[in-house]
Amino acid sequence: MSEASRSMPAATAAADSAPVSAQAVAPVPNRAVSMTINGRAVGPFEVPESLMLIDFLHEYAGLTGSRLGCGQGICHACVVILDHPDGTSEEVRSCITGAAYFQGRKIRTIEGHAQRNAAGELVALSPVQQKFLEFYSFQCGYCTPGFVNAATVLLERLKRQPVEKERVESVVTDALDSHICRCTGYVRYHRAVRELILATPGLTKESGHGK
Ligand code: FES
Ligand code: FES
Repeated sequence: MSEASRSMPAATAAADSAPVSAQAVAPVPNRAVSMTINGRAVGPFEVPESLMLIDFLHEYAGLTGSRLGCGQGICHACVVILDHPDGTSEEVRSCITGAAYFQGRKIRTIEGHAQRNAAGELVALSPVQQKFLEFYSFQCGYCTPGFVNAATVLLERLKRQPVEKERVESVVTDALDSHICRCTGYVRYHRAVRELILATPGLTKESGHGK
């Protein structure tokens, strides 16, 4: 085997020797993708156009905290937070959303929640992370990044739009319902978020309050 063919990717070598009809499949084009992740500019990286965000995070950004569960948009283990220019935030499933969709956008991943000092040492968990610890909400922890992101998005929404105290339980259920925990720790996740909302000033309001 020549040097050239040894260094050639297997798929390319196979395509070169394939019949003409088999070569009709066009290669996936690349595109440059850059985004802001946890406040830090990442990229540009030349990535396949079909690359999903979770693979971009794992393979290009060096951020492996986001978890790939079902890979089909069902379990929500993989969600990250997309920050919009108007100050709102939303969950996005990184297993079914292409990295190119986030070109020029700002996202947060599980690595961005805890506070770190100048040396990069962890000095404080986020309120959501701390509450999950206090309530022993997780067991294996595989689903936890998704739950942290979902609960964080909910708290940020309630900061803008406080909810009546008696509606907190249903609001938490709506926000976390799509997240699957194979260790079935749902009750402690839900209880932790409920307690955190009720204990955080400004997230709830009394019934009949005009706000
Ligand atoms: S891994 Fe993305 S929704 Fe399950
Ligand atoms: S803690 Fe194991 S999957 Fe949720």
